[in-house]
Amino acid sequence: MKFSLVSSLALLITVNEAKNTAKNLQARSSYNPKRARQLPAAPEGVKTITTPQNVTIRYKEPGKEGVCETTPGVNSYSGYIDLDENSHTFFWFFEARHNPEEAPITLWLNGGPGSDSMIGLFEELGPCHIYENLTSYVNPYSFTEASNVLFLSQPLGVGFSYSQEEAGSVNPVTGVYENASFAGVTGRYPAINASLLDTTDLAAIASWHVLQAFLTGLPQLDSNITSKEFNLWTESYGGHYGPAFYNYFYEQNQLIENGTIEGVALNFNTLGVINGIIDEYIQAPYYPEFAVNNTYGITAYNDTVYNYAKFAT
Ligand SMILES: *[C@@H]1O[C@H](CO)[C@@H](O)[C@H](O)[C@H]1NC(C)=O
Ligand SMILES: *[C@@H]1O[C@H](CO)[C@@H](O)[C@H](O)[C@H]1NC(C)=O
Ligand SMILES: *[C@@H]1O[C@H](CO)[C@@H](O)[C@H](O)[C@H]1NC(C)=O
Ligand SMILES: *[C@@H]1O[C@H](CO)[C@@H](O)[C@H](O)[C@H]1NC(C)=O
Ligand SMILES: *[C@@H]1O[C@H](CO)[C@@H](O)[C@H](O)[C@H]1NC(C)=O
Ligand SMILES: *[C@@H]1O[C@H](CO)[C@@H](O)[C@H](O)[C@H]1NC(C)=O
Ligand SMILES: *[C@@H]1O[C@H](CO)[C@@H](O)[C@H](O)[C@H]1NC(C)=O
Ligand SMILES: *[C@@H]1O[C@H](CO)[C@@H](O)[C@H](O)[C@H]1NC(C)=O
Repeated sequence: MKFSLVSSLALLITVNEAKNTAKNLQARSSYNPKRARQLPAAPEGVKTITTPQNVTIRYKEPGKEGVCETTPGVNSYSGYIDLDENSHTFFWFFEARHNPEEAPITLWLNGGPGSDSMIGLFEELGPCHIYENLTSYVNPYSFTEASNVLFLSQPLGVGFSYSQEEAGSVNPVTGVYENASFAGVTGRYPAINASLLDTTDLAAIASWHVLQAFLTGLPQLDSNITSKEFNLWTESYGGHYGPAFYNYFYEQNQLIENGTIEGVALNFNTLGVINGIIDEYIQAPYYPEFAVNNTYGITAYNDTVYNYAKFAT
């Protein structure tokens, strides 16, 4: 049942695979082994499942190690969905805190484009937030009070999601990313072909495949969750992602329902767009208006700043 992976996207990736791999090996061969030793160790204790479509899901259960969702009896899974050799999408899935069996499944996507959904997880609606000392604490206002939630770092190249891995670091002085040719790199970076997955519509296709892999793997990962009710919640550039993704998912649903393709039809409930950029050309001129004229009775700045802001937009 290879159908769902052989999208135009997967084909493009396969075509470019040889080239990318060669480039990557070249980069690796120039490593100074002393430098390479400074890279973070590969994670240990990673479990793997293979979905019916032969997609691998590599994961750990961070909550069981005291990380993030530590509410007793609430499971969480984090790791990678490997669609193929060049497509590794980072995910973190949390069970709902109450009755996860029946709770809907919500996909959360931050915006950007290029914002990692870990922002939403750790700073907004996720089950835990992070102290300055990098320990996590439980967020009582998490969406997971009511829903199972899947966080995806997407598209490839965002957050921990990658096509190929390369050594690299953020230069602490310049704040700029340095690759393996720079002395003293200490991290791993997601390497991608930036022009391969560079539109909202392509991101929708890519995420649909990742979601299909996740949902068909879910019975092995967390067999208790049976609900197929689906929500998509997103923010900011999600004003573009939300409608485009839902539209594509809807088209795929129709193809599944009339037997053109195989897959898991998504039972849509809600689409949420928070603070969305729908049409910046229309929205931007209203930022200064809203700052001084709003239903909260707040005057965020004076006439001088207002006039500058009007001029800038
Ligand atoms: C690493 O970065 C340098 C400087 O930006 C660039 O010239 C070089 O091509 C890069 N090497 C790789 C393997 O990407
Ligand atoms: C599953 O994928 C692996 C490579 O990831 C491949 O070696 C294997 O032949 C595939 N199995 C099937 C049944 O397609
Ligand atoms: C981290 O910071 C929090 C909040 O200040 C504190 O309660 C906790 O004890 C700290 N943990 C460690 C390991 O320092
Ligand atoms: C990156 O992808 C684009 C679009 O598919 C392709 O034209 C280009 O050759 C690729 N670049 C590399 C280095 O593979
Ligand atoms: C599934 O639900 C049963 C019954 O509530 C529970 O005992 C079991 O631990 C659950 N399994 C997982 C993986 O949470
Ligand atoms: C299935 O639905 C799609 C979208 O509505 C349509 O384009 C296609 O012709 C349909 N195929 C069949 C076999 O009914
Ligand atoms: C404030 O906004 C309302 C609604 O757009 C508008 O009707 C009104 O004229 C505005 N007031 C001022 C002082 O700009
Ligand atoms: C308006 O606000 C700016 C920024 O706070 C301040 O620098 C400026 O002095 C203010 N102008 C007046 C007339 O109050």
